[in-house]
Amino acid sequence: MKALTVIPHQAGSAELSDVPEPPDSDGPVLVQTLAVGICGTDLEILSGAYGWSAPGRERLTLGHESLGRVLDAPADAPVSAGDLVVGIVRRPDPVPCANCAVLEWDYCRNGQYTERGIKEHDGYLSERYRITPDFVIKVDSTLGALGVLLEPTSVVAKAWEDVDRIGGRAHWDPATVLVTGAGPIGLLAALLGAQRGLDVHVLDRMSDGVKPDLVRALGATYHSGPIGDIGLAPDVIIECTGVSPVILDAMSHIGIGGVMCLTGVSSGGHLIEFDEGALNRNMVLENVAVVGSVNANRRHYELAAKALAEADRGWLAGLVNRRVPLERWSEALERRDDDVKVVIDVTTERGGAS
Ligand code: BGC
Repeated sequence: MKALTVIPHQAGSAELSDVPEPPDSDGPVLVQTLAVGICGTDLEILSGAYGWSAPGRERLTLGHESLGRVLDAPADAPVSAGDLVVGIVRRPDPVPCANCAVLEWDYCRNGQYTERGIKEHDGYLSERYRITPDFVIKVDSTLGALGVLLEPTSVVAKAWEDVDRIGGRAHWDPATVLVTGAGPIGLLAALLGAQRGLDVHVLDRMSDGVKPDLVRALGATYHSGPIGDIGLAPDVIIECTGVSPVILDAMSHIGIGGVMCLTGVSSGGHLIEFDEGALNRNMVLENVAVVGSVNANRRHYELAAKALAEADRGWLAGLVNRRVPLERWSEALERRDDDVKVVIDVTTERGGAS
């Protein structure tokens, strides 16, 4: 079968390879891959900056934002043939650490976890894959091809859970959220904020185009420019750019008792001058919390599945604004101005999900 593979830490090594059928050791549920979303992590892997193949293997099959159709499953599995499904990305470490032992693998303590399509385990960007029943999530069939948004939504579902848990250290009744970055993660974070009935603000660089339109269609307010100009002290900030000046600007504007969640992965190595003393003083005197958040466990996928099932389909469709067939995979890796979520169609079902 065909798979999009890469040699980790070797830029320009991506190719459409012929690979063996998925190994039985990956699990008894056999899935036909329909589509796979491309995100910043994939681009990092393709650039040679991130990613690890399985021990003893040169190549890694890419793809962690999946959507597929079950071809075969054991009778006692929670999914059956024909179901639309998404595969969970991370697997607990083998030790296991205290968190992986209770299925909170997103908080793995020893770094020995694996991630499909990212770290030491082949991803979902192949025509078929196998998986164990406990790592597959059933998607509302009415979502169809939009189910490919489930994995990135799971990441923001976790971020919101973190925010609520930390905010809940005292009376917690947030009214405003500022989301920095209007990429797929930012827009999905804004969607979850709107679903909670908050006054949602989203900030990005573009002054017009698809992103501001998607923000306004949510009933949220779009901003470009310095955060200070907005005149807001948000209860919640979800940071989705990973860009240092934006992060520091946002940290300096959190409201009293507010919580800021960092979700963007930055490259590091950029030094900037900053008044840390002033930031520290405000954070202490105003009980401000800043937390980093990565990945998602099964509970977050389930929260995400519910959030997507309740979302406006037209709005979600606006997020997936470019679909590329597997044979033309390299086009999916180009960054175009109005791109939000680019998806590779692996199998096109007649009248079906894709
Ligand atoms: C994925 C996460 C993963 C993280 C770090 C993100 O793109 O969505 O599941 O944990 O990259 O590898």
